[in-house]
Amino acid sequence: MAFTYSEKVMDHFANPRNVGEIENADGIGEVGNSKCGDIMKMYLKIDGDTISDVKFKTFGCGAAIATSSMATEMIKGKTIDDALKLTNKAVMEALDGLPPVKVHCSVLAEEAVKSALSDYYERQGIDPEPIVGKIDK
Ligand code: FES
Repeated sequence: MAFTYSEKVMDHFANPRNVGEIENADGIGEVGNSKCGDIMKMYLKIDGDTISDVKFKTFGCGAAIATSSMATEMIKGKTIDDALKLTNKAVMEALDGLPPVKVHCSVLAEEAVKSALSDYYERQGIDPEPIVGKIDK
């Protein structure tokens, strides 16, 4: 199937931001898509209620890499509350859209952020249930 990516998608795919791991991360999330088998891992450093650093590793398609890159840019320096409001739609809009068959890749990015925040809450002894409930698996 032929489709084209926006320039922003191509840019974030070719030059992904915030790639890597964070040693001693405060929250780590890993999500996978059962249909395509792609995996996304997200690491968060949290100071107070602010996400001071975020890195990701994605074993997946170009759209998965671009959406994880954009998602990290959108939550870096933001509060936990703001990060929890991040939607796959907002990530797609920031990338000037995705072909319909690639929408699920952006869902993976939203889930990875929420999964990492859920892990952070769990480590803090806070019930992560409200976040986990938002992860549409
Ligand atoms: Fe599955 Fe992109 S094809 S995450």
